[in-house]
Amino acid sequence: MNQQDTPLFSALLAHAKRNPIQFHIPAHKRGRGMHSAFQSFIGENALSIDLINIAPLDDLHNPTGIIKEAQALAAEAFGADETFFSVQGTSTAIMAMVLATVGPGEKILVPRNVHKSVLAAIMLSGAHPVFLHPEVDTELGIMHGLSVETVEDALIQHPDARALVVINPTYFGVAADLRRIVEIAHRYDVPVLVDEAHGIHTAFHEDLPVSAMQAGADMAATSVHKLGGSMTQSSVLNVRRGRIDPRHVQVVMSMLTTTSTSYLLLASLDAARKELALHGRERMEKAIRLADEARRRINQIPGLYCPGKEILRNSATFALDPTKLIISVKDLGIRGYDVEVMLREEFNIEVELSDLYNILCVISWGDEREDILRLVDALVKISAAYKDQIGKRTVQVKVPSMPELRMSPREAFYAKTESVPFHESVGRTIAEMIMVYPPGIPILLPGEVVSKDNLDYIEENLRAGLPVQGPDDPEIRTIKVVRE
Ligand SMILES: Cc1ncc(COP(=O)(O)O)c(C=O)c1O
Repeated sequence: MNQQDTPLFSALLAHAKRNPIQFHIPAHKRGRGMHSAFQSFIGENALSIDLINIAPLDDLHNPTGIIKEAQALAAEAFGADETFFSVQGTSTAIMAMVLATVGPGEKILVPRNVHKSVLAAIMLSGAHPVFLHPEVDTELGIMHGLSVETVEDALIQHPDARALVVINPTYFGVAADLRRIVEIAHRYDVPVLVDEAHGIHTAFHEDLPVSAMQAGADMAATSVHKLGGSMTQSSVLNVRRGRIDPRHVQVVMSMLTTTSTSYLLLASLDAARKELALHGRERMEKAIRLADEARRRINQIPGLYCPGKEILRNSATFALDPTKLIISVKDLGIRGYDVEVMLREEFNIEVELSDLYNILCVISWGDEREDILRLVDALVKISAAYKDQIGKRTVQVKVPSMPELRMSPREAFYAKTESVPFHESVGRTIAEMIMVYPPGIPILLPGEVVSKDNLDYIEENLRAGLPVQGPDDPEIRTIKVVRE
């Protein structure tokens, strides 16, 4: 195999050049049948490869040609035995991992702070989740991964578990000691499924946490689109043979995937894989250098703190992705969301996310030093505007408590329900998810008992203007609970 090749992208280019008369969908026919403003903005090139699975272009659902070749190159580049492309983001790849490994009533070990796609898959599969406590950072107000001890205790108590889910690294760029976690899970013959939405780049530089495949995990759902340079929505599912049968994974992926797969997304995966395989290290070196400079400069700004390796204290916080800048703003006496809005409205800067206490900025090789200096300059100005408040208002950091699970999420989701006013839901079993997105980690999920503490936390997020979502009632004046 030659990582210089892009079998899928190149075949699409050749097909577009051949320019056959198209009596097939999409009806826009290379853009000619499209709204003209959209067509001219997107451009002829992109529209000429917006194609479907006609025979010369292979089929993602049963690849035998150029998609198979492109996936094999990706597997080699990412250190997997087999790689499946996803045109529905990592969410679908995660659902496929779960649905391919656990069935109704079977146990799956999951950190409570998982992305909603893991929980959706658990609800669809009918598996029984055993929730594990992640490490909580009470200074930053964020949750990290699982400690080795938590995983080992869970396996001792549940040796019959059919899978273990691990987030590596978290949205905030903190990784657990994945090698040891995998080693312990494998002692119990339990496959390790890794949510690697924020880890496509880690295999390509020695200063980054290890990737799931490097750590010996069995499967990893990985967002190439987030940090690896492909187009939004394109991800991969990396598989190691042994505990997992890749043919079954292919079947499950196919069950969950649209039959109208976007060749633009597939081609962008092929091209991003080539870029990572050939130039990943040097590209990541640039991103790490830029992030290091940003971190150094931000830590000189009064009232701001951008954590580095000093927050790595144990096996749950074992390695750091330095390209994620967590910027704690609580000492300015304002919310993360306030800073997000100021950066948007006063400085034309958009961040990745904000929460009650922090903003998160993602640095990639697509950034330039001037971008970093503009961010630092904006933060200097914001800090100066709040200098009188620094150290005066102590912000009490709260992290939502882990609710009691009274009923399986699937049972609660399908139970007879009723809507009750928000404050009257305390003590009831919730039948829907409530989360802040991003990061998309549920504060409450179906089957859990609502506590006042959870409601206070939701209200605080709503008051701060953060995007709380999930319930049937978008205003969250009522909550759907299981009828008693
Ligand atoms: C931890 C985590 N897992 C999974 C996902 C889902 O990834 P995607 O957006 O590619 O579907 C996200 C998205 O933000 C995430 O943060």
